[in-house]
Amino acid sequence: MRDVIVAANWKMHTTPADAGDLARTIAGRTREAGVIRVICPPYVCLAPVAEAVADDDPPVAVGAQNIHHELAGAYTGEIAAPMLAGLATWVILGHSERRRDAGESDALIGRKLGRAVDAGLRPILCVGEQLEEREGGRATDVVDEQLAGALDGHDAAALAAAGLVIAYEPVWAIGTGRNARGADAAAMADAIRSSLEGRGWGSRAADVPVLYGGSVTSANIDEFLTEPGIDGALVGGASLKPDEMAGIVARAGLTARARSAQR
Ligand code: 13P
Repeated sequence: MRDVIVAANWKMHTTPADAGDLARTIAGRTREAGVIRVICPPYVCLAPVAEAVADDDPPVAVGAQNIHHELAGAYTGEIAAPMLAGLATWVILGHSERRRDAGESDALIGRKLGRAVDAGLRPILCVGEQLEEREGGRATDVVDEQLAGALDGHDAAALAAAGLVIAYEPVWAIGTGRNARGADAAAMADAIRSSLEGRGWGSRAADVPVLYGGSVTSANIDEFLTEPGIDGALVGGASLKPDEMAGIVARAGLTARARSAQR
């Protein structure tokens, strides 16, 4: 049975002075058995967030929003995966905002994926199409290409053992208040697992958690989590609001309980 995961991507919000309090508040309001909670603050807030949630039960994981594709060197302003030891256990890779603003290619994201796995970080690989690609009927092909570019050349068994998570985040749904339809997200989750199956993952593909991201709120999370192929959410704007996170994780708790009852 796949993990149920709610990951908070705080993007470029919060400061070391306020991040710990926000993380503690969210942690205290989202304790749901069977739901993996992950908070991904800016790098400079990793330490205060990790400290704030250290004793929470069930545990809250802390993730970074990016890593560099090299281990060390002359890369001004960058952070390498091994530097996150003791600060983070998860990492978001290939977010569309980094593809857009930092020009990250699928191949580069694939190199980061290798660094993440080597450093023991659990990766959330983001994929998703632009609006014109969806309107042109190419959404599935675009996502398939993103998966191929980032995953080919990696050992499927090693990525599966590292707990690879895929986040389907249609670019047109991010920060727009216009979420995808649950049925479309579920169809893409199926397409993602078929793509993995066809590129060396075989039956392991069925075990890969697929999250939906893009204007997720407590009001629309139900639409996604009623889909059996969707295992949680990668939440942006709403993840900074404790009320919203409480609603989203509570709904994820229903899915986790239903799944454990099926076992
Ligand atoms: P929003 O939830 O703000 O649309 O952001 C989604 C996202 O990009 C999460 O990584």
